[in-house]
Amino acid sequence: MSVKLFRNCRIYTPSDKGCPAGGRAQSQIASFPRGALLVKNGLIARVGEEVKILAEITFLTIDQEIDCQSRCLVPGFVDPHTHICFAETRESEFEMRIEGTPYLEILKQGGGILSSVKAIDAATEDELYKNCLKHALTALSFGATTLEIKSGYGLDTQNELKMLRAIDRVSRTTPQDVVATFLGAHAIPPYYKENSDAFIDLIIDEMLPAVNRQNIAKQCDIFCEKGVFTINQGRRLLQAAKKLGMDVKIHADEVHDLGGAGLAVELGAISADHLLAASDENIVKMAKAGVVANLLPATAYSLRKPYARARKMIESDLPVALATDCNPGSSFTESMPFVIGLAILNMDMSPAEALTAATLNAAYAIGMAKSTGSLDKNKQADFLLLDGESPAILAYHAGVSPVVQTNAGQLPALQTHAWRDHVERKAVPLKGGVNGYPKMK
Ligand code: NIG
Ligand code: FE
Repeated sequence: MSVKLFRNCRIYTPSDKGCPAGGRAQSQIASFPRGALLVKNGLIARVGEEVKILAEITFLTIDQEIDCQSRCLVPGFVDPHTHICFAETRESEFEMRIEGTPYLEILKQGGGILSSVKAIDAATEDELYKNCLKHALTALSFGATTLEIKSGYGLDTQNELKMLRAIDRVSRTTPQDVVATFLGAHAIPPYYKENSDAFIDLIIDEMLPAVNRQNIAKQCDIFCEKGVFTINQGRRLLQAAKKLGMDVKIHADEVHDLGGAGLAVELGAISADHLLAASDENIVKMAKAGVVANLLPATAYSLRKPYARARKMIESDLPVALATDCNPGSSFTESMPFVIGLAILNMDMSPAEALTAATLNAAYAIGMAKSTGSLDKNKQADFLLLDGESPAILAYHAGVSPVVQTNAGQLPALQTHAWRDHVERKAVPLKGGVNGYPKMK
């Protein structure tokens, strides 16, 4: 048995009550100005006031004691929506966008997602793996200890499976936990332009069963949008995915209010994502149905669109999660601190609400709350130290990562800032002391 004690830290964490935290519960986080965290075999054994914990454990043998020097300790961030498995960036399209060409217009002209599809077709699985791992490790350096990664730049069986295999390799290599999502319905391939129903048939009849046979994705997603897939097509595909036992989610109401949020309610989706244009009516329905609103403010920032109405959602008791949406088109950032900063300063979320959104609710949005997302007993000891007094530092110290750097031991490429105790159970061990902190005893 390994027992570690992290002491002298300011602890902030949401509490897991068995469901995502909406409404007032979203801002209710536990805090211990001088806290301690006891970890047994990589799992959280006790969190609370340092004096109390020290009094309780006088007879316990502690293998390692770490003085956190009054830093802020929070659960590891969960990034529940990314497209980091891609082959090439799209900088020239970014320039077109800032000069005024709309995002969906670039897609209509055969660019956008479709240019990423060409690049994926030309790339080997190994190249994809390396590129995806690079972005995953950048995300880790900004505190994302759990990640969702979507396919969706393949758009045919072979290339979708190639992406999912690359994602699977990343999940086995990186210290992070990774949840893979099949997004075969991300755009309409040119060949199916006039008959997108036939493409949905192909996904249902060929791609989904192949993905299911290989047990290579836990969730299924679709981009419902004007000029992309309709709500009826979304319903057909996601019902088929549910029959195979997959969790379903939707890129919903990103640019236009097509009713994607309503479809998420109808299907019992685990989350509806984007929601920039979601209606009041569907916000209320989502809250009643327990669908997490997965908001992606870095996309609104990059597309220069009005942000999703987080306040309205929270006031409607709808649990809000936050994600980067990291992708080469609409949001090229791996930084959860940046996203949290946007949520606090541009969406009027409080630091406590944003912390819950980026940890507990994000974990629920990808079915990972049993093991992560809060510092509750028996969850993984998956946490970060921030170089600040409270989670407000994430917005206040803008444009940098306040996640304290830790020593990644033999893995210089990792340059990890995340401090994960349970990482030892993964294939790649993190070793050594912590920069700026006393060596673990
Ligand atoms: O979530 N909206 C669709 N999919 C991504 C963008 C993907 C891309 O442009 O490459 C999104 O914004
Ligand atoms: Fe997306």
